[in-house]
Amino acid sequence: MSSPDYPLGLRLAGRRVVVVGGGAIATRRVPALLDAGADVVLVSPALSPALQGLLPRFTYHERVFTPSDLDGAWLVHCAVDDPTAGAAVSAAAEERRIFCVRADDRHAATAWTPAVTRHGQVTVAVLGGGSPRLSMGVRDRIAGLLSEISADRLAGTVALVGGGPGDPELITVKGRRLLNAADVVVADRLAPGVLLDELRPEVEVLDVAKLPYGAAAAQSFINETLVDRARAGKFVVRLKGGDPFVFGRGGEEAIACSEAGVPVLVVPGVTSAISVPALAGIPVTHRGVTHEFTVLSGHVAPSSPESLVDWPALARARGTIVVLMGLRHLAEIADVLIRGGRNPETPAAAVQEGSTSQQVVVRGTLASIASAAADLRTPVVTVIGEVVTVLG
Ligand SMILES: C[S@@+](CC[C@H](N)C(=O)[O-])C[C@H]1O[C@@H](n2cnc3c(N)ncnc32)[C@H](O)[C@@H]1O
Repeated sequence: MSSPDYPLGLRLAGRRVVVVGGGAIATRRVPALLDAGADVVLVSPALSPALQGLLPRFTYHERVFTPSDLDGAWLVHCAVDDPTAGAAVSAAAEERRIFCVRADDRHAATAWTPAVTRHGQVTVAVLGGGSPRLSMGVRDRIAGLLSEISADRLAGTVALVGGGPGDPELITVKGRRLLNAADVVVADRLAPGVLLDELRPEVEVLDVAKLPYGAAAAQSFINETLVDRARAGKFVVRLKGGDPFVFGRGGEEAIACSEAGVPVLVVPGVTSAISVPALAGIPVTHRGVTHEFTVLSGHVAPSSPESLVDWPALARARGTIVVLMGLRHLAEIADVLIRGGRNPETPAAAVQEGSTSQQVVVRGTLASIASAAADLRTPVVTVIGEVVTVLG
């Protein structure tokens, strides 16, 4: 039976670490070494594009390895899947008493990289006796437990979490983790409903879409609820559709919490402005087609004195226009853009309930999109611009 491994946390800041190889394995290893502050020296005749992107954060020698590369090093990663090269690097390391991690033969290596999970100041490193599958499985279980423990520290905090456009898989990993840890969830109409179904039974869920007030009263009720629940020591997740700061009133809620002395965490989300067109096959930018896109709210009609949009400037510009909350005023919006100079034949599309099983896409031109979208119901994102047809 072999002796057990001896685990150790290395302080690599400013210390030379040599990486031999510039391919897929090195691409996975180098970022963590740089994060640890190591003085990374990479030796390889070729370098992956991802590693090229990290230059000049490490020293690169574009050639094959020679043993003297290890002079002055504290650690070496042999990141090539070639036993002959691995043996040569390993022998040079042994001679210099430098620990050597080997991708080609982990059993012949003098050091192993563990599976790692980090939570604040705590780092857990798992060695699986040479089985990466085992170490990663154990690491994932521990990561889950640590998330629950770190949730205790969130008591009295409000997290403004972007839930994405509707598909429950489009919430961020952090958003999902915080949602699982919440004591109270205050959810919007557009927040992905399926996520609420998965909450623990004791979680208090406030569906603010159903509040029997006008918009302003509802917002002040929401602000008060967030503050009250947090002050009672609860961890409150304010779950919103898309991104909290894109027409989501997240800013108002952040201000209300800060004024009440309640700590706020913001977890950005996948906004419908970009993701809903994307899922309908429309990129909001495309090389050689447009260098800009503008996201605007069509909630207020262009003719209203309350509209803050510079419609004449938008009509003169050439980029993609993405309209949120614009279904009701779509005809007026198209009209003002055409009168201001946009070509009426500009391709346009309207997407209802994007990313969900109810998704409907209608296409047309700037001149025709309002009538094409007449039968749609909210929520709808409208895209105007040449990008609408670039993918066919
Ligand atoms: C109050 S805004 C909130 C936007 C949200 N914060 C975001 O970043 O996506 C609501 C508008 O977002 C758009 N929207 C949100 N989810 C959508 C979806 N799944 N499909 C189409 N439009 C959506 C619609 O224009 C809707 O009227």
